[in-house]
Amino acid sequence: MADEKKFTRDEIALRNNKKDAVFIIENLVYDVTKFLDDHPGGHEVLMNVVGKDASEDFDDVGHSLDAKELMKKYLIGELVDEDKVVVKKRQMQWDDSATDAGSGGFLSSWKFPVVLGLLMTVLYTYLFG
Ligand code: HEM
Repeated sequence: MADEKKFTRDEIALRNNKKDAVFIIENLVYDVTKFLDDHPGGHEVLMNVVGKDASEDFDDVGHSLDAKELMKKYLIGELVDEDKVVVKKRQMQWDDSATDAGSGGFLSSWKFPVVLGLLMTVLYTYLFG
């Protein structure tokens, strides 16, 4: 991205017309002025979100990978750090770190039952052997 620029949300808010159509998707800024008439979903939907954060609307449609690839062509920069939001992961992630949280811990690892088993064996032999 040679021409990567930083924008504020206030700056983007002003670029909300057909001649200067810009919106934000996941902290990145897209200039779709030239894309309005080519958008397969029509220019009206895009005009509804110009000047705004279109992350949710874009996601709701469930755009194809091709669409996501095409977006790169219209990328002009990103938001300044102060105006960025934490991008929500809407996809299901079964291997999310939350599920294996504590996997490094002794109690939840395989070592615990093994050590417990050994301990019981030693105790049993000691008591009844
Ligand atoms: C640079 C940004 C965008 C690009 C490159 C893009 C591209 C596309 C493409 C290629 C399609 C055809 C279907 C597919 O391949 O998924 C599509 C459909 C569509 N897009 Fe976008 N889009 C953009 C932004 C948006 C935004 C911000 C909205 C909503 C506000 C939107 C709403 C739609 C809708 C409603 C359809 C029609 C879906 C259907 O017919 O089932 N798009 N878009």
